[in-house]
This record gives sequence, structure tokens and C-alpha cells, in this order.
Amino acid sequence: MNNSSVYDCSIIELDKHHSDRKGNISVVENKKTIPFDVKRVYYLYDVPGGESRGSHAHKELNQLIVAASGSFSVTLDDGNVKRTFTLNRPYQGLYVVPGIWRELDDFSSGSVCMVLASAKYYAGDYIRDYDKFLKFKNHD
Ligand code: TYD
Repeated sequence: MNNSSVYDCSIIELDKHHSDRKGNISVVENKKTIPFDVKRVYYLYDVPGGESRGSHAHKELNQLIVAASGSFSVTLDDGNVKRTFTLNRPYQGLYVVPGIWRELDDFSSGSVCMVLASAKYYAGDYIRDYDKFLKFKNHD
């Protein structure tokens, strides 16, 4: 999706079930919480302080990014506008549409970045070169 914008991306509040004595559960359901079906879940952990991840865009993939533990920042870029989100609540997810460049950094110690994705891993869906990304977005 080459005409997507960072304003198509948003924080989604997840269902939170609280028990005073036993803690919390948050839930994500296909097409109810998020507008896509989850086909894959992966998570980043043990990211050393000061490291960044991401630096790519996806052509077709939809994602929900959740700070399952700790905190980190996600900067989204559509070629025109950048928006930075700090994720630090396990009951919130950042919905990222296709065609958005992302950088993840400022990982706190012990943080877990859980990603719910709309498709199986496919290397051909990645754009890893920023100039190619701008061309994809017609901003060359
Ligand atoms: P990569 O997407 O480069 O990590 P990030 O963008 O978060 O810094 O993925 C790192 C490695 O993991 C790369 O060799 C591909 C592999 N990988 C899979 O095999 N399957 C997956 O679902 C993902 C997300 C990555």
C-alpha cells in the first residue's frame, strides 16, 4: 500500500480484564480488536540498551505492536510525516498499516516487543532501503 499515511496508524486499547488479587489479562481477537486476521506472532526481547530495530517497511503486512513488558519507542514514517509513539502499557497496541517505515528504539531493560502480524514471514514483503521506500511511496 503505497498511499498509506502515518495517520492511518493508531493506538488501539485492548480488552483488559482485571482481578484485584490475580492481576490482569488483555485480549486481542481477529477482526474484533484489530481489522485483520493474525497469522503470525513474534517478539523481540533482550534488546541491548541503545540498540534500535526495524529500519524497514512492509508492502502488504498489517501489524499490531504491543509492549508486552517494559517500554520502547516506535517512530513511523510515511515518507512525508513522522510520528513517534512510546509504548509502555500491555493493554495498548500500535496498529501499523502497510507501507510505513518504522524504527524501534529506547528499549527499557527487560522489555518485550510483541508483534501480531497479518501474514507468515515473507522476505519479499520487506523494503529495507530508505531510498527504495521513498520511490515506493512516489516521493523520489
Ligand atoms: P528483522 O525483521 O531484520 O528484525 P528487525 O527488523 O526487528 O530488526 O528479522 C531479524 C531476523 O529474524 C531475520 O534474519 C529474519 C528473521 N525472522 C524470521 O525468520 N521470521 C520472522 O517472522 C521475523 C520477524 C524475522
